[in-house]
Amino acid sequence: MRIVVTGASGGIGRALIRVAKRRGDFTIGISRSPSEADVHYQCDVLDLRCLERAAGEVGPVDGLALVHGHGDQRLWVKPLSELSGDDFIDVFKVDVIGSFNVVKAFLPSLTPGASVVLVSSTPGLIGDVYGIPYSVAKGAVAALARSLAKVLAPVRVNAVAFGPIATRWTGWISEEEVRGFGERTVLKRLGTPEEAAEAIYWLLSPASSYVTGHVLVVDGGESL
Ligand SMILES: NC(=O)c1ccc[n+]([C@@H]2O[C@H](COP(=O)([O-])OP(=O)(O)OC[C@H]3O[C@@H](n4cnc5c(N)ncnc54)[C@H](OP(=O)(O)O)[C@@H]3O)[C@@H](O)[C@H]2O)c1
Repeated sequence: MRIVVTGASGGIGRALIRVAKRRGDFTIGISRSPSEADVHYQCDVLDLRCLERAAGEVGPVDGLALVHGHGDQRLWVKPLSELSGDDFIDVFKVDVIGSFNVVKAFLPSLTPGASVVLVSSTPGLIGDVYGIPYSVAKGAVAALARSLAKVLAPVRVNAVAFGPIATRWTGWISEEEVRGFGERTVLKRLGTPEEAAEAIYWLLSPASSYVTGHVLVVDGGESL
């Protein structure tokens, strides 16, 4: 497969590139900083022209994985009383409009059997006390995936809602708090970036050929 991965420099994006390369796929990375993808475009997902330039160069695309995310530590811990409307708009722009931009830019490149995977989050489905703008944006990402599935068929569009996956955010809080996130799950641990990447990869691959408009929860049972 020829797979485009946004968030290619991040924890889950890097793992997805490793997983895809191991299986012989050609990977095209997108993020503002470099990645290990076979080809990389340093684009902001809010820069539609940059994305369209990349799409114009890469040729046919079988898989589009939208693994970028706003991920601002300050918004994650800000109490409700200090949150502003702009905080919501900032996260919404990157996670929702950014995902829309990437799909729009790569639409002409998608093969008829292509698969698009967006990344949501369990807080987007069940809420959370942390990062309310993030939860709201991730709920919208799930809604975007379902709508795109209806519009883009036979191209398949799905989302993965992750629970706590061990990437850079674990460095923002104490070890005890990290353990607390593990304890919130039924499996009593954080997921690894590879476990997250495998779920995305399954939805990208023909192994999931009759699955579209689905939000796959990969959270160690956190949302049960
Ligand atoms: N880790 C978790 O526990 C968890 C749980 C649920 C959902 N998720 C979601 O899974 C996805 C990946 O998470 P992660 O933990 O791998 O995140 P991460 O390590 O923080 O990586 C975030 C990625 O998004 C990219 N990005 C951010 N803003 C961007 C922009 N404006 N334009 C282009 N790229 C941008 C970053 O690249 P540059 O900074 O280089 O541009 C980076 O590659 C995110 O959508 C996240 O919300 C993660």
